[in-house]
Parts: sequence; structure tokens; C-alpha cells
Amino acid sequence: MNSLSTAAPVRVVALRQSYLHFTVSTYSRCIATTGLQCSSLAITNKCSRQPAPKRFISSTPQTQPKGFFPPPTAPSVKEVPTAWAHPIYAEEEMQRVVVGHREAQNWADWVALGSVRVLRWGMDLVTGYRHPAPGKEHEAKFQMTEKKWLTRFVFLETVAGVPGMVGGMLRHLRSLRRMKRDNGWIETLLEEAYNERMHLLTFLKLAEPGWFMRLMVLGAQGVFFNGFFLSYLISPRTCHRFVGYLEEEAVLTYTRAIQDLQTGRLPGWEKLEAPEMAVRYWKMPEGNRTMKDLLLYVRADEAKHREVNHTLGNLNQGMDPNPYVAKYKDLTKPHPSKGIAHLKTTGWEREEVI
Ligand SMILES: [Fe+2]
Ligand SMILES: [Fe+2]
Repeated sequence: MNSLSTAAPVRVVALRQSYLHFTVSTYSRCIATTGLQCSSLAITNKCSRQPAPKRFISSTPQTQPKGFFPPPTAPSVKEVPTAWAHPIYAEEEMQRVVVGHREAQNWADWVALGSVRVLRWGMDLVTGYRHPAPGKEHEAKFQMTEKKWLTRFVFLETVAGVPGMVGGMLRHLRSLRRMKRDNGWIETLLEEAYNERMHLLTFLKLAEPGWFMRLMVLGAQGVFFNGFFLSYLISPRTCHRFVGYLEEEAVLTYTRAIQDLQTGRLPGWEKLEAPEMAVRYWKMPEGNRTMKDLLLYVRADEAKHREVNHTLGNLNQGMDPNPYVAKYKDLTKPHPSKGIAHLKTTGWEREEVI
């Protein structure tokens, strides 16, 4: 039994007001006074000294007690079940997830890695995040709050849900166009996009973005979707490597959030229970339904995406079957699967799975 869950758990709805609005007025003041050249740190520090904003800017009127996305009001419908059931993760498997990096081995890998670093820089700027160098974790300028983490998670997940859908869509269209089978890739890619959207919807149960955030997401999606679409037409292999590197960053982000929570830097989350939709989606067992558990589940998903995309990046895009839906002849050794029992940080090499 997880000790956190036994000590007077606090429902998400009880704390929701405190996270309710990412306000834009403070951002606007910061940008107006410091210009766009200022670092995210400068924005953050300056913002923290500003008085509380007088008005909240959100598309959802505050007087409405309903949730950010309330359940549908269809009298005849009992529930809308999930399209893809999530595999069960054991806690010890999730605890084994580690930060990792696949070394770039050719020019395409370097292009993918460089693109992720540029994207990471932009995301750090937008979400007010600075990653500390080893040994500097305790310096005040690197400290994150619950609200800053949620801002980062929401922004990260709105971007993360794009590649799987674009890849799945383009492989679907290619199959139609060429009148050839796809060999099982489409389902895995769409499932990844679905999983990322579930991450987003879960975090949106804890925080509601204001219009500034929505504007940033809109711009980012417009640029990223089109860029990834064109890139996937040119080199799907490089795109899967790119997503593999992007997921390495996601694992790093969630690992640091978990460490912050475990070391007492996020007191608001210590007794916070995971939203109900997360409990149902991940099938979180009783006693393991806290915010820390939720972050462990999400991090494990990101580690799985890291493995899947590095593996897909190792394959012949047009010919090879998807190793994650294949049935293998030799059952005496581990193979790629939907779970995380045999998670590979750098993906499976082609010789291991084809
Ligand atoms: Fe995610
Ligand atoms: Fe991911």
C-alpha cells in the first residue's frame, strides 16, 4: 500500500481552483517590459513579483461549476469506452524506467537530434523551464512549481500528440494510394497519438489554460504539424528518430518532476489524487492513485514511445512489418511488446526483430 494514498487523500476537484487559470496579464506585462529577448527565467522571476492579476482570461466563465470538458449530456449513452485499452504496468517496471540517449550514428540522426534540441529550446522558453547542470539542482533559479510543471506538461503533450497521427495518416494514405498493405504500423502510430492525447486530457483535469496558452499551442501546432507532415513525406525514418529523441526529453522532464515531488519541492501534489479518468485509463490499482503514481505512468508511456520510435527508425520503412504487433516464431527470448517488461532505452535493432 502506498503510504501517500492512505493519508487523507485530496480530490483533484478540491484543489482545482488554485490551478484553474494560466493568466496572460502577467506574461503580457513581462513581455512588454522586458521584450521577447528576455529569458524564460527573467519572465518567471519578474512574474513572481507581480501582484495577482486582476482578471482571468479564459474562454470558460468562472461562474460555471462544470469541468473544463464535462462529460457529454446524451441521455441514452452510458459511457464512451476507450478505443485502445492501455496495457497494465507493474510498479516495479515503472520504477525501472531511466533517462537515456541513443547516440546519433549518421547524418539523419544528427538532423533529428538537432531538430529536437531547437524544439526543446523553444519549449523551455515558452514554459519557463531551465534544466539545471549537475550539482546545481538546488539553486533557486531552477526551481519549478506545480503550476509551472503543469504548464510544461500541457504544452509538451499538445505537441507530442501530433507525430503519431501524422505518421499513421500518411501511411494510411500511402497504403490506399499504392494499393499495398501497411504491415501493421498504422495502429501503433495512432495508438501513440491517442495515448499522448490522454496525457493532455489528464493534465487538463488539473489546469485550465487561458487564451495566451491556447494561442501558443495554436501557433506551435500549425508550425509543427506542417513541418512534420512534409518531413515525414521526405524521410519517415528520420522522423521516427526525431520522435525517439523527443521522447528522451519527455522522459527527462517527467523524471525531474517525480524527483521534485519525492524531495518535497511540490507540496501541493504530495496528497493529491490522480483524476478519475486517469485511474480508469491506466487501470491504476488501489493504493497507487496519487499524483506521483500518475507521473510514473506517464513517464513509462514516454519511455515506451522512445523505444517504439527508435525501433521504427531502425527499420526499412516500406517493407518491414511492425515488430509491436508481430507474432514471433521463437518464443524463448523477449520480443517487442505493448508492455514495458522488456523496455529498451535505445530501441530494438533491426536484426533483433526482423
Ligand atoms: Fe505524453
Ligand atoms: Fe510521448
